[in-house]
Amino acid sequence: MSEQLMGWKRTDYCASFSVADIGKSVTLMGWVQTRRDLGALIFVDLRDRSGLMQVVFDASKFKGDFSAVESIRSEFVIAVKGEIVKRAEETINEKMQTGWIEVKVDELKVLSKAQTPPFEIEDGSKVRDEVRLKYRYLDLRRPELQKVLMMRHQIAQVTREYLNKNGFLEIETPMLIKSTPEGARDYLVPSRVHPGSFYALPQSPQIFKQILMVAGYDKYYQITKCFRDEDLRADRQPEFTQIDMELSFVEPDDVMNVNEGLIKTIFKSALDVDIKTPLKRITYKEAMERYGSDKPDTRFGLELVNVSDLVKDTEFKVFASIVEKGGSVRAINVKGAVEAFARREIDALVDFVKIYGAKGMAWISMKEDGIQSPITKFFTDDQLNALLKRVDAETGDIIFFVGDTEKVVFDSLGNLRLKLAEKLELIEPKTYDLLWVTEFPMFEYSEEEKRYTAMHHPFTAPMDEDLELFETAPEKMRAKAYDMVLNGNEIGGGSIRIHSNEVQQMMFKALGYNETYATERFGYLLEALKYGTPPHGGLAFGLDRIVMLLAGRDSIKDTIAFPKVQNASCLMSEAPAPVEPKQLKELYLRIAESAK
Ligand code: AMO
Ligand code: AMP
Repeated sequence: MSEQLMGWKRTDYCASFSVADIGKSVTLMGWVQTRRDLGALIFVDLRDRSGLMQVVFDASKFKGDFSAVESIRSEFVIAVKGEIVKRAEETINEKMQTGWIEVKVDELKVLSKAQTPPFEIEDGSKVRDEVRLKYRYLDLRRPELQKVLMMRHQIAQVTREYLNKNGFLEIETPMLIKSTPEGARDYLVPSRVHPGSFYALPQSPQIFKQILMVAGYDKYYQITKCFRDEDLRADRQPEFTQIDMELSFVEPDDVMNVNEGLIKTIFKSALDVDIKTPLKRITYKEAMERYGSDKPDTRFGLELVNVSDLVKDTEFKVFASIVEKGGSVRAINVKGAVEAFARREIDALVDFVKIYGAKGMAWISMKEDGIQSPITKFFTDDQLNALLKRVDAETGDIIFFVGDTEKVVFDSLGNLRLKLAEKLELIEPKTYDLLWVTEFPMFEYSEEEKRYTAMHHPFTAPMDEDLELFETAPEKMRAKAYDMVLNGNEIGGGSIRIHSNEVQQMMFKALGYNETYATERFGYLLEALKYGTPPHGGLAFGLDRIVMLLAGRDSIKDTIAFPKVQNASCLMSEAPAPVEPKQLKELYLRIAESAK
């Protein structure tokens, strides 16, 4: 039987006591972590969100039925009254925060029994993710996850504090909005009142925050959920949280400065780490050329080197024809590592770059006893020497080459770089590399849709000097956009927005939206822009990602109390799920046979 509290009040959390409290009478409540039964003496480690306290039941002193104590099992919820005492010298546990004291128990209430849990509630216990997530409430009892969620709370609080102090207003924007093409697929919600019509859940508050600027609520922020129906990855969830903001009368530097201050505050409060500002800045072009990535991890070298000009006239036809066709050939020199790459390892790396579309990968091994390579035979001595000089090759180095379209070369070498750093352990743990990537291209060409799409979003302003390229060379246009990158992860992104209706129309045109379509989808924004719009811009951080990186976790799932898995379902609540026929009928919906 579960007992009632009947007036018992908890004195404080289990781990809130110390030797200073010896002699105090206390009431503690929590979960049974472990139980050691020595017959007339039973030891229990009692757990709550603060940590553990050892409580001791001594049959000779216990007031009440000792068989109740004997019945206690793991994860029972109990309340105890007793006295805090010093532990005997030989039982002191220095690893435990409360390891010098224990509670000698007089009275016990078993508040709730527990079935044997499907896994031990312990950090580091090897349990499959599916089981953990089905029993998420048990998993969440583990101290390591509790620490992450507490850090998340802390980060959200200091964010609010910082933004409030800097004059921002927290304003909510709607969750049921009109579907707008913004990059990802929308989650749709059918309307009962408007049969056949749908709301969409916001992919971000983008349009609304811009309209708030038109409305004069300069300096807005919100910590809010965003919804994107896209493929999940370790750093992506279908619903995630943004620290979203927008400011009026600003240029990129203003937005970047505010956010450098914010990230500095977050690091200080969550990790007591001092981040030096201003942060490094690197243009998109330089990031791609040097690191093959628009979110470069610059904690290690292994930079890319362009050798296209040196291979274009060689007898190695593969490379020559790639350069001829407008592609490039680039290399990474792994200094002093030739011995780390036996043939088998090289083959594995060749397979690795193929994931990113590379058709092959050539290499040059600078062995003590001479050069080994499948491609040097195609080069004259002069060509080879020029190549070796360009990549700074010395005995002991191994150099990898990929030739293809720029996209494939950057993708494969950018990822190879990360893979090599991991293999060679080039990254020092607990180091933080924060930087801005700026001057993103306005557009990227979508092969699938056969048109340009906005690299950031359709409301991003072009750089002033590129404005005239709308008609002639949109692919060359750069945006007033900036991403913040932490250890090779994009943690935030934003831009200065288009604040003129005419430029916005030009943008839609470049994206291939005709006027009817643009009006139908974004008419309300276009209309708003006509009524006095301040120059404005903003940024959104991915809160989940920041917490993941600061808490040193590999998955964003660990930062979210109730996350979704790969196929976007919640294993605990079993969402999504079919609904009652009556609900469908009310919404005028019918499920296609093919979906059943
Ligand atoms: P963007 O789409 O770059 O910009 O998103 C901003 C930040 O949100 C995080 N993020 C995600 N985190 C977890 N799961 C996801 N599926 C996911 N998608 C994005 C990233 C990213 O940097 N409205 C603009 C912001 C602006 O221009 O002000 C926007 O949403 O860390
Ligand atoms: P092949 O002459 O096709 O046997 O190629 C010789 C070497 O060049 C092999 O090591 C291939 O892996 C490599 N190779 C082939 N295509 C490419 C490419 N696109 N980029 C880099 N290396 C390549």
